[in-house]
Amino acid sequence: MKKQHIAGVFTARAAITLVATTATLLIAGCTTLPSAEESLAAIKSSFSERGIAKLDRLDQTEIQRLCSEANMTGKDIDKKTADKIQTALYDKIPYPKDGFIGDWREGERIAQNGRGMQFTDAAGVPNGANCYACHQISPQEISYGNQGPSLLKYGAIRQVKDANSKEAEPIVKYTWARIWNTHSVNLCSNMPRFGDAGILTEQQIKHVMALLLSPDSPVNK
Ligand code: HEC
Repeated sequence: MKKQHIAGVFTARAAITLVATTATLLIAGCTTLPSAEESLAAIKSSFSERGIAKLDRLDQTEIQRLCSEANMTGKDIDKKTADKIQTALYDKIPYPKDGFIGDWREGERIAQNGRGMQFTDAAGVPNGANCYACHQISPQEISYGNQGPSLLKYGAIRQVKDANSKEAEPIVKYTWARIWNTHSVNLCSNMPRFGDAGILTEQQIKHVMALLLSPDSPVNK
């Protein structure tokens, strides 16, 4: 297999797809499934490190491992275990002490920006979020992916009139948790863990929150 370079923030997904591909190839050739270790070794041998992109990106978290296993075997994680892990994650979400809502204009720039964590990026350059790769967000942007649900009118649909108000708190906290660590609200979610994995800073997440929740954001017009 041709060596590939590790690039971008979505390598965990790429790894899952590769595990599936490796498994399918091996099943075609023989009857036994490779172990998780054998699959990981096969995947690692087909990538090479370059610049800031190291092979440890292919190491799955325990949750990704559980979800991949469920995917490959077709057997769901039992509901009690899933609920327990998810609740523990939700309880550990760090909420900001000085407000959740930044500037939607900055948020739009961050959501549009697909740079960061690639082997061509210098270390320490702020990452983008690339939200548009998976979501419709502002109506002005007509180029977007649809792996995730449309976020058009996200705050308006949820009747958020003032994102800093007490009434808005539950939806504001849910949205923060979703962006910080998506597994805390949907265990086997396919969305990146923007805060937990250190992709975005707390301040960047505040700006993205404003994009989704501020009544004056184009998303809610
Ligand atoms: C790789 C694709 C991907 C990217 C990039 C991504 N998301 Fe998601 N997002 C999803 C998927 C898929 C879901 C729903 C299902 C799930 O949890 O996997 C989702 C769900 C959501 C939800 C919950 C919607 C609801 O109605 O409850 C919010 C809010 C959200 N994403 C915001 C964002 C923001 C903000 C960004 C950028 C900072 C972003 N997403 C980037 C894939 C993505």
